[in-house]
Parts: sequence; structure tokens; C-alpha cells
Amino acid sequence: MSKITRRKFLKSSSVAAAIPLMGSAGNALAKENSQLPDTGIILDYPETTVSNSSQLPVNKAISFNYPDNSSPCAVIRMGHAVPGGVGPDKDIVAYSILCNHMGCPLNYDSTTRTFKCACHFSMFDSEKAGQMVTGQATEDLPRILLSYDKASGDIKAVGVDGLIFGRQANVV
Ligand code: FES
Repeated sequence: MSKITRRKFLKSSSVAAAIPLMGSAGNALAKENSQLPDTGIILDYPETTVSNSSQLPVNKAISFNYPDNSSPCAVIRMGHAVPGGVGPDKDIVAYSILCNHMGCPLNYDSTTRTFKCACHFSMFDSEKAGQMVTGQATEDLPRILLSYDKASGDIKAVGVDGLIFGRQANVV
């Protein structure tokens, strides 16, 4: 008969005790989620004309609001193809310009091509889908999803990828 040390006994009994606890918590969470009511409500983003591809200067942030008037955004033509870019050169992108740390307005720095926050110095890369570069924010900037109409050149906002600061849902 092999001898079990005190350390081995405690180690094996604590693991054995933890497994059912984790299992029951996981089951409770799964059960809770499955009981969420199906409201049958789907909130659609509005389709809003932001600009025309022929009128956007390169490397200049142009302001607009989306999905409503309390949500300031900026559209930029980067001058070369970037991730998520639309338009004839796949270089037009747009973002919410409320910092997702505490909601301060962001300024566009055309030298570094980043959005900068003067409150606590967060910085977001406009050429990399709004990726957070540095600062207090913990997420990338919400991207405004754009569509491009080849015939007219119109650029339209059609949705938001990310949660705009201060909201529980972007569209209410
Ligand atoms: S509000 Fe922008 S970094 Fe804090």
C-alpha cells in the first residue's frame, strides 16, 4: 500500500472539490443565458451619406455625426489602401471621435495619422482600423462602417463596429 503525503492529499482533494464547483457555476451561467428573453427586436443602423469620394482631401479628418447627432465622428481619406478602407482606392475610413476611456473628444494629428486624446493621452492609429497605440483606453476606437457607391461616388455610414463611449447600445 502506497503512502499518501499530507501535501499530496490536500492537492488532490482541493482539485476534486473545485471541479464540481466550476461545473455548477458554468451550468448556472449557461442556464441563465438560455433564459434571456427573445424580444424579437432588431435595431438597424441608419444609412447616412457622409461625403463623396471625389470631395475628400487626403489626410484630413472631416466631421460628421453617426448614428445620431450626439455622436461625433470623422471620415478620412488616407491616400493609400488601409484595413477596412472603402472607395475607389480602399483608403477611406471613419471612426467615432469620443475617446473610449472617458469620452473626451479626440483630435486628428495628420503628422502621425493618429487620433489623440488631450485628457489622458490615449492615441489610436487611423491606418490600422483604430487600433489603440498607447494611453488609458483599453480598446480600439469604434469604426464607422462605410459603403461606397461606385456610380455616384457617395460614401455612406451603415453601421458601427464597437461600442461608442457612454452608451449601452449604439442605436436606441
Ligand atoms: S478620456 Fe481619453 S485617455 Fe482618458
